[in-house]
Amino acid sequence: MLVRAIAGNATYDFASDVYAGLTQPGQKTLPSKYLYDDVGSALFEVISRLPEYGLTRADERLLRRHASEIVDSLATPVAVAELGSGSGKKTRWLLEALCRKQRTSYYPVEISPWALAQCERELSDIDSISIVGLEREYLAGLLEVAARRKGVQNLFVLFLGSTIGNFDRPAGMEFLAKIRRILRAGDSLLLGTDLEKPSAQLLAAYDDALGVTAAFNLNLLGRINRELDADFDLRQFSHVARINHDARSVEMHLRSNRRQRVYIAAAALDAEFMEGETIWTESSHKYSANEIVQMAREAGFRCQAQWVDEEWSFAENLLIAE
Ligand code: AVJ
Repeated sequence: MLVRAIAGNATYDFASDVYAGLTQPGQKTLPSKYLYDDVGSALFEVISRLPEYGLTRADERLLRRHASEIVDSLATPVAVAELGSGSGKKTRWLLEALCRKQRTSYYPVEISPWALAQCERELSDIDSISIVGLEREYLAGLLEVAARRKGVQNLFVLFLGSTIGNFDRPAGMEFLAKIRRILRAGDSLLLGTDLEKPSAQLLAAYDDALGVTAAFNLNLLGRINRELDADFDLRQFSHVARINHDARSVEMHLRSNRRQRVYIAAAALDAEFMEGETIWTESSHKYSANEIVQMAREAGFRCQAQWVDEEWSFAENLLIAE
């Protein structure tokens, strides 16, 4: 079952975010959530299979290996909410382990209807599962799940794939604290976090040889053309991945190959780009394992366990709301 987006004006929101990001003084930016339309979500699926990008496979390995252990440490019965489920592939192991113990309601929360449909197709064969997809922003979706919980149920929230890394550190903290405020003591959060690693490895992961990440990034301009009636010439922009040592993040930018103007009709905006000027489209922050324990504590969680992948340094953190 799929609960559709609340009829708002998605095009209007997109246009105003694009307007704000391209007219602010200094560095131009576009919010990374807009990378995930149908084309972008499909390209991210490909990225997650590239040899250079080990993040998703590390996440999957940890979930597969430790699914029973994770599920055994939960106070059941639980209902499961996943923030940003994507295709749902890596969630299978947890859900299978859980469904062996109890009938399970699973609520994937996603802004991409394409990903939600995939997710439902991927997981509906599991015994004793009931899937209710929520086409919502993360916190709105989680509020809805919390409102649907039955008295004795605890919530088990999944925030996997190091999506938290798209927030800068203060915003990531604030996001964890907001999740905590929606939860009750005893609820849990499984948080996937990519750990710090050598710059060369990170640059290869975010600027792969096949150019899939470049296509993923450039598609944001393609999406603005399609949905906001703009005339970006995608060939006149280039994908750039750079390390921000101070922020401990990898940034993706789109660099203007020459001086140019672009008209974005739905935002009533004539945007000018200097040669070499960039639009900052995404950050992926990297963490230390200790830092996560600390962040969790500040947000009102106790870190009950951490599992770290040996091959690609990535941590799964089981946090209990206190
Ligand atoms: C899905 C947000 C975890 O930051 O690594 C992959 C997105 N961007 N390659 C990440 C992404 C470029 C990814 N997350």
